[in-house]
Formats: sequence, structure tokens, C-alpha cells
Amino acid sequence: MSLPDSDWRRVGPAVELAEEDVMPFEFNGGEYAIYHTTDGFFASAGMCTHESEPLADGIVIGNVIECPLHQGRFDVRTGKALSAPVCVDLKTFPVQVHAGDIYIRIPDIVSAS
Ligand code: FES
Repeated sequence: MSLPDSDWRRVGPAVELAEEDVMPFEFNGGEYAIYHTTDGFFASAGMCTHESEPLADGIVIGNVIECPLHQGRFDVRTGKALSAPVCVDLKTFPVQVHAGDIYIRIPDIVSAS
């Protein structure tokens, strides 16, 4: 598989993100969260939509990220808010693994928030 355009940003080696784990990623001043679940790799805006807590400090449970501050939950595949107190969905971003590295697609004009 190839990277079809220049909007793909290299995150790092896929082997460094264990299954059921999450890591932060910064690009152009934006914060992102990269997830590895049993379904693959996913990416979202890095801050919780409730009170802007870093989701990379949360816990991955299946395809769900649980925010560390108030335990709100999102589906990392879709960004859908699943449980109170979160009610605003997360923005998600395409991810692929190419030559052993994780890439997230962030167009220059898009911000994480
Ligand atoms: Fe994430 Fe409140 S800051 S649930």
C-alpha cells in the first residue's frame, strides 16, 4: 500500500504502540491520539470534548477510549461519544501502516479541535 498524497504524517514505528494502547501525537500545534485496538490502528483529536483532558492518558478497552478525568467514553473507530459526561463526538482521522510505520492523514487546513 502506498501513501497517495502528502497529507500523511509519520507517527512512528507501529511496533512501539502495543495493542490496547494509546499514544499522543503532535502536528502543527494540534494534539492527536493514536490507538491500537484488536481492529487495527485509529486516530482522533487528542483532547476530550468534555473538558480538554489528553486522551492519550486514558485507557483503551476494546475499541473504546476512556477519558482519565471523568471516565467519559468514545468509540475510537468513529469518534462517537458513548457515555456521560461526554456528549460531543471526537473528530477522527484516517490511519494506515506503511512499511512498518504508522501514518495519520491530517490535511494542512485541518486542526485537531
Ligand atoms: Fe473527559 Fe471529562 S474531561 S470526561
